[in-house]
Amino acid sequence: MLKKSLDLYTNLFRITLRNPRDLQHVIGVARWAAGEIADSVADTRSIPSIDVLDICPGTQRWTLQSFPRVGASVSPMECAGLAALSHLVGAKKVFEFGTYKGVSTTQLALNVGEGGMVFTLDLPEDHPAYSLPIPKQEEQQIANEGSKGILIPRDLLGRVTFLSSDSAKFDERPYLNTMDLVFVDGAHSYEYVKNDTEKGWKMLRPGGVIAWHDCVASHRDVVKYIKESNLDAKLIAGTTLAFAIK
Ligand SMILES: C[S@@+](CC[C@H](N)C(=O)[O-])C[C@H]1O[C@@H](n2cnc3c(N)ncnc32)[C@H](O)[C@@H]1O
Repeated sequence: MLKKSLDLYTNLFRITLRNPRDLQHVIGVARWAAGEIADSVADTRSIPSIDVLDICPGTQRWTLQSFPRVGASVSPMECAGLAALSHLVGAKKVFEFGTYKGVSTTQLALNVGEGGMVFTLDLPEDHPAYSLPIPKQEEQQIANEGSKGILIPRDLLGRVTFLSSDSAKFDERPYLNTMDLVFVDGAHSYEYVKNDTEKGWKMLRPGGVIAWHDCVASHRDVVKYIKESNLDAKLIAGTTLAFAIK
């Protein structure tokens, strides 16, 4: 620790001599890291992490599709994470909370292969109202956007079933113990993450996998719920995806 502190101060001194403006960048990074860690509820470091290549060791052919950047959607590395999880459980039936434009739905549909099905749930476009609390206004804006699933390529539409409901009102009973993979990426409030996880868990078959997007300090409620749930979740390194096996 002493050596690391000395290295830090030496480097700060060198940066100050060379170009003090570069300190802005260093302080920016330090502030970000401190912000992630200062709030113990939102600190993800107690969740064990795993490299995406170790999820399903060996050689697999994952299929991914890139899109122009869509805010609030999964990153390319997270697409790889979803593909790896699909292969881990040989997913043929997948349930997704939160379709949005269809970026994650597409990755899931590609990896269930021929004969597979992705059930994807989003709020009704004509009435995107919430029955549980959501503190973030951005969520409401995203929910109000139309064209859910618009980016899903036509040739994959046969592998996608669109469901339209507030997840708090969604009846999971017809799907109990049938899903190989459940992906939770709807509303991000504690109440909704709990609702979606509990329903998702019931829909999962034993040995299936549940995954959450946005397990990151900026989505405090997601981290809080995952840590409290005792589901033995792991984070996929370099992503905000966490997952647990039933
Ligand atoms: C973050 S976006 C999903 C992004 C998508 N999974 C992707 O990676 O491309 C969240 C989506 O969840 C939907 N949503 C929010 N609250 C919901 C609720 N209570 N029930 C169903 N869907 C909800 C929103 O309308 C929005 O389309």
